[in-house]
Amino acid sequence: MDFFELGNLQKYFGENHVVDDASFCVKRGEVFSLLGPSGCGKTTILRMIGGFEEPDGGKIFLDNEEITNLPPNKRKINTVFQNYALFPHMSVRDNIAFGPRTSGIKEAEVEKMVDEMLEIIRLKDLGDRMPANISGGQKQRIAIARALINKPKLLLLDEPLAALDLKLRQYMLLELDRIHDEVGTTFIYVTHDQGEAMSLSDRIAVMNNGKIEQIGTPAEIYENPKTRFVASFIGDTNFFEGTVTENIDREYTKIDMVGLGEYPAYNDKKFEKGDRVTVSIRPEKFSIFMKEPGDNLNNCEGVVEDIVYQGAQTRYWVRVKDYRINVVMQHNRCSLDFKQPTWGDKVWVAWHRDDVTLLESPH
Ligand SMILES: Nc1ncnc2c1ncn2[C@@H]1O[C@H](COP(=O)(O)OP(=O)(O)OP(=O)(O)O)[C@@H](O)[C@H]1O
Ligand SMILES: [Mg+2]
Repeated sequence: MDFFELGNLQKYFGENHVVDDASFCVKRGEVFSLLGPSGCGKTTILRMIGGFEEPDGGKIFLDNEEITNLPPNKRKINTVFQNYALFPHMSVRDNIAFGPRTSGIKEAEVEKMVDEMLEIIRLKDLGDRMPANISGGQKQRIAIARALINKPKLLLLDEPLAALDLKLRQYMLLELDRIHDEVGTTFIYVTHDQGEAMSLSDRIAVMNNGKIEQIGTPAEIYENPKTRFVASFIGDTNFFEGTVTENIDREYTKIDMVGLGEYPAYNDKKFEKGDRVTVSIRPEKFSIFMKEPGDNLNNCEGVVEDIVYQGAQTRYWVRVKDYRINVVMQHNRCSLDFKQPTWGDKVWVAWHRDDVTLLESPH
């Protein structure tokens, strides 16, 4: 049995099936994220894990103990919320000391524990300040310290960075990563921000409409999405509809991509001749050529419609028949003799047959 297990969890609010048969396991010390759009049920799952909401079905286990029906204070789980929920009338030290003090630990020991936490969150000098007089990022670190001082077996974090501006969010992500490395506590992290989930997590569960669509490492989810939703929610992609016309061998198949023609594609999901599929190709998997490329690359001819310079990369939209193909080119990948295409140029958009993900077609 894994350190933490959620089995077939269900939750209804009236008719609304908010959590639909959610199951996952988390290893000890792992950072596991629940990622999905607003309203998909992430907070509801977290509240059921914390004991603040009763499931309508399913079981929850933590460290070899079933906790499904235990009250929150018996679960050895702490939660960090988006809005920090610090006590405004207490100093930073007293906020952090709150848990151990109420559980009757001796004052000298509490002071030592608070010092240790202030060290971990690197706010040693702010102990005597009041919450009103510190920044958002500092409040967030204090909320984390106040949870971690209780030495929970599991720390739940619900969109902990959502209230911070972009720069601070990026800094706090690194801080969270460092704090996690230092304390080694198991984290379940809820976010709707794919960048946050990708950079912090060991594994991610992608949710849509109350259901978990895929669980995997950030790279697995990005490189090998299992559904159309996962492919489009994590990163950008281009979708093409098509039909399998021929299985070339055990690995490759030929797809008639509507309006474009027949192209070979890697077929790890074992689609059969006649199956309708959606072909997903990420923008950075494409290359743009000013001349027709060689035979080993799939390619089609088009015209550059839009260009957006983004610093480290440039984004192109190339019109190919009914499609507007989105291509991202990293400048450092271009050779010196590469001529940047410009608006209206005739170009060839090319891709390798391995850089294609075949998904079940919605039609
Ligand atoms: N107490 C409640 N009573 C009725 N419906 C609720 C309640 N709490 C949540 N819901 C509904 O359940 C669904 C899932 O809500 P939840 O808060 O879990 O979503 P979320 O994924 O955390 O979204 P967000 O990213 O916006 O925080 C939503 O449709 C929400 O309106
Ligand atoms: Mg939420």
